[in-house]
Amino acid sequence: MSTYDGKKIVITGGSSGIGLAAARLFADGGADVLITGRTRSTLDAALEQLGDKAVGVRSDAASLKAIKALAGTVRERFGALDALFVNAGVTASAPLEATTEEMYDELFAINTKGPYFTVQALAPLLREGSGVVLTTSVVNVLGLDALSVYSASKAALRSMTRTLARELLPRKVRVNAVSPGPIDSGILDRSSPPADVVEATKETYRSTIPMQRLGSSEEVAAAVAYLAFGATFSTGTEFPVDGGASQL
Ligand SMILES: NC(=O)c1ccc[n+]([C@@H]2O[C@H](COP(=O)([O-])OP(=O)(O)OC[C@H]3O[C@@H](n4cnc5c(N)ncnc54)[C@H](OP(=O)(O)O)[C@@H]3O)[C@@H](O)[C@H]2O)c1
Repeated sequence: MSTYDGKKIVITGGSSGIGLAAARLFADGGADVLITGRTRSTLDAALEQLGDKAVGVRSDAASLKAIKALAGTVRERFGALDALFVNAGVTASAPLEATTEEMYDELFAINTKGPYFTVQALAPLLREGSGVVLTTSVVNVLGLDALSVYSASKAALRSMTRTLARELLPRKVRVNAVSPGPIDSGILDRSSPPADVVEATKETYRSTIPMQRLGSSEEVAAAVAYLAFGATFSTGTEFPVDGGASQL
């Protein structure tokens, strides 16, 4: 019998990077996995890798209507859930003077509002003993240049991890966060072209992270699996996967 045989797991933003690595880990371990993302082609490519243990649902994490529809689909397909990985997120950077209202609203809608209402909509399906994992970021506790809004959107999510953990205690559902540092998931390449800028950013990270490298999506996925299933006496916590960036 495999580690996750019979488990039902939803992963928002499961079509690439960290979410896809987690989906692969769980599907390889025998779980039934439902992944979301906005882009059909990315979802299809992910499903091809994941095989028949996975299904993909196109769903915008910032839309309450889509979140409610997703909850209906999950109920129909899975009935109940053993783990929920609320991971969909985007990054954007701009210095204070260049930050726009549109950028602010988009970052908070996808990174903060969406996760909150995703937990609200899917909480009734979570079995006793199940685990919710939210993806925050190392920037919660750092003051990096040009990342004021992104950092704040994730800091709010870190705070919600505590209060949602408290509120779901009576249901015996644990809520924890995984906090990645710079991870070579492709998110940087997609957010800040041109390529030489991306490479320079990665080089800066390499030279400033105590472990002198970027992390991999698989390293974050391993922590997610632990928080979702192994961390049976932990709730409200945030686990850093950041090469020491937030701690040393
Ligand atoms: N990589 C890092 O260095 C790093 C560090 C700290 C925290 N994080 C966080 O880790 C999480 C995953 O990031 P990643 O690095 O794996 O990035 P990624 O490869 O770009 O993956 C992001 C995933 O979220 C989905 N997504 C984005 N916006 C969405 C929306 N509105 N609705 C539904 N799905 C949406 C994407 O699919 P579509 O674009 O097709 O919708 C994709 O599946 C994010 O929350 C990010 O903020 C990443």
